[in-house]
Amino acid sequence: MEKPVILTGIRSNGELTLGNYLGAIKPLIKMQAMHAGEYQINMFVPDLHSFTTPVEHNLLYENTLNNLKIFVASGLDINNSDTYIYRQSFISSHTELTWILDCFIYFGELNRMTQFKEKSDGKESVSVGLFNYPALMTADILLYDAKYIPVGEDQRQHIELARDVAIRINNQFGSIFTIPEEWNQQLSFSNLHQGIRIRSLKHPEAKMSKSIDDPSGTILLTDNPQDAAKKIMSATTDSLGHINYDFKLQPGVSNLLQIIALLSDRTIEEVTIEWQNQTNYGELKKVAADLVGSLLSELQGKVKSIDQSTILDKLTQDEESMRAVAAAKLYKIQQAVGLRQK
Ligand code: TYM
Repeated sequence: MEKPVILTGIRSNGELTLGNYLGAIKPLIKMQAMHAGEYQINMFVPDLHSFTTPVEHNLLYENTLNNLKIFVASGLDINNSDTYIYRQSFISSHTELTWILDCFIYFGELNRMTQFKEKSDGKESVSVGLFNYPALMTADILLYDAKYIPVGEDQRQHIELARDVAIRINNQFGSIFTIPEEWNQQLSFSNLHQGIRIRSLKHPEAKMSKSIDDPSGTILLTDNPQDAAKKIMSATTDSLGHINYDFKLQPGVSNLLQIIALLSDRTIEEVTIEWQNQTNYGELKKVAADLVGSLLSELQGKVKSIDQSTILDKLTQDEESMRAVAAAKLYKIQQAVGLRQK
């Protein structure tokens, strides 16, 4: 029997952030360590998704390869035979399936997406690609029958859409797609009580994001470790004078507690108990700054030692395998909707 699939993707527009690392890279790698053998692990770069937000086109190709190096430097074992890496645009079934899915997804569903609303807000011209990106993401997930998709909280609606679309198509045509697990199941599979949402250090009411022009609130994985530590030391907190985990009242402090918990592999409950009602924000920042500084030093050291040709060889091999898997699934839906003979 085929193994169930854990899958995630990270766009390559610009540098990766601490949010990407804690929301998707680290969780996926933890799952690989815990479940390879029982599960297939797909970690891919949705390069076609990269230009839904501004991107330097002449850097995109190299950025994609650099990101793959970062996955490996973060601990992704590409020698593991259950693990596949690939680039979305190298497997044409992704875009072919997207068109079919577009005809089964409602305008209202995409129009409700918070990510779309946030990213299009105040913009004079908004691309159809930005609007339609959850459909392409649905194709990325359904083509490989993914069951678990470790992503940050900001992607929750998109995972729910993929699940709804899989159910809709299966109801109409029979069992074609594996239905991704519900959000709460996704969380418990990751041992989480709530989705991960790392906030900007400067504006902790907002997400830490590479597309926001907020350099002092964002830690890039390529930041100099000392500079990153400085950003944490000057993070916005509050004037309440005691430490509690409460994103409504104390978003800055809660963000630091969350970063500490995720980087030290402890639960938020454990870390909160340790710091509860203490008053020294400087100490809290120092612990977070040291953890982030060590992460970046270690990661950047490892990236330098990774040989690009190893990654390219693995990509070539895996893209060939995944092309066959995706084409077989595409053929099934093409038959179901009447484009191919049954
Ligand atoms: P992207 O590239 O914007 O982000 C990649 C992953 O990083 C997570 N993330 C965060 N998590 C916590 N806190 C943050 N501040 C933070 N910022 C980013 C995101 O939740 C995501 O998991 N559409 C996706 C990429 C994609 C995909 C897929 C993911 C395309 N197809 C199929 C999974 C499965 C995106 O734009 O992510």
